[in-house]
Amino acid sequence: MNRKPIFAANWKMNKGPSETEDFAKGFLPNVEHKTFPCDIVIAPPFVSLAKASEMFGNVSSVALAVQNCSQFDAGAYTGEISGLMLKEFFVHYVILGHSERRAIYGETDEFINAKVLKARELNLRPIFCIGETLEEREGGKLEEVLRRQVSVGLAGLEEKGLGDTVIAYEPVWAIGTGVTASAAQAQEAHAFVRSLIAEQFGADAAAKVRIQYGGSVKPGNAAELMACPDIDGALIGGAALEPSSFLGIIENGTA
Ligand code: 13P
Repeated sequence: MNRKPIFAANWKMNKGPSETEDFAKGFLPNVEHKTFPCDIVIAPPFVSLAKASEMFGNVSSVALAVQNCSQFDAGAYTGEISGLMLKEFFVHYVILGHSERRAIYGETDEFINAKVLKARELNLRPIFCIGETLEEREGGKLEEVLRRQVSVGLAGLEEKGLGDTVIAYEPVWAIGTGVTASAAQAQEAHAFVRSLIAEQFGADAAAKVRIQYGGSVKPGNAAELMACPDIDGALIGGAALEPSSFLGIIENGTA
């Protein structure tokens, strides 16, 4: 199965509009008027979306994402942003269920599921994040945790909805720590996640769905990780804050 890799920059709570513009000025000469054998996605904070839309809206090789969105369309939800509003900003993807939102903001599998279903209803493509903590891995709970996250988080999705959903496997212990899962560890988890998708949605859907790896991906480890048969790109935090290292990951990961 030929799956197009997807490399996504999750800027987290970094880069306001002026830093977004600086990044774009460094990044654009390398991506404008070029085609890539992969999808390239940038997820700035909400306040930088207008600037990112202005800078990348006409660049066909780059798509925009957001890092969260509400499960509701509009109304009395102080501090929230709805998917409907995002339609005005050339946003195609929405990161949902990131481990930081699960751990720091208490997002549950059911809550994330409601957001996934709302995103699909609005034709936004979820980048649905899953992954175990170190404690869970060392306690032999890796498969149990991934099974719960996938079965509850993606419940109610149709096969078409799944096809437009990207899964990001991000072991929590590898995020921002400099400790990357070894290629073998990552491949094993990805193959397991794909088997869960096969159980829930069928073998055809499982063969098509893209599963990104996230957690301390850098230019130096991208090639080895991307060579694994079930790894279809990366979700990158720290190393995607600089145009040169994000590009280095894309180049090395697709070489
Ligand atoms: P780092 O690449 O900084 O480890 O972050 C990974 C991540 O959480 C991307 O969503």
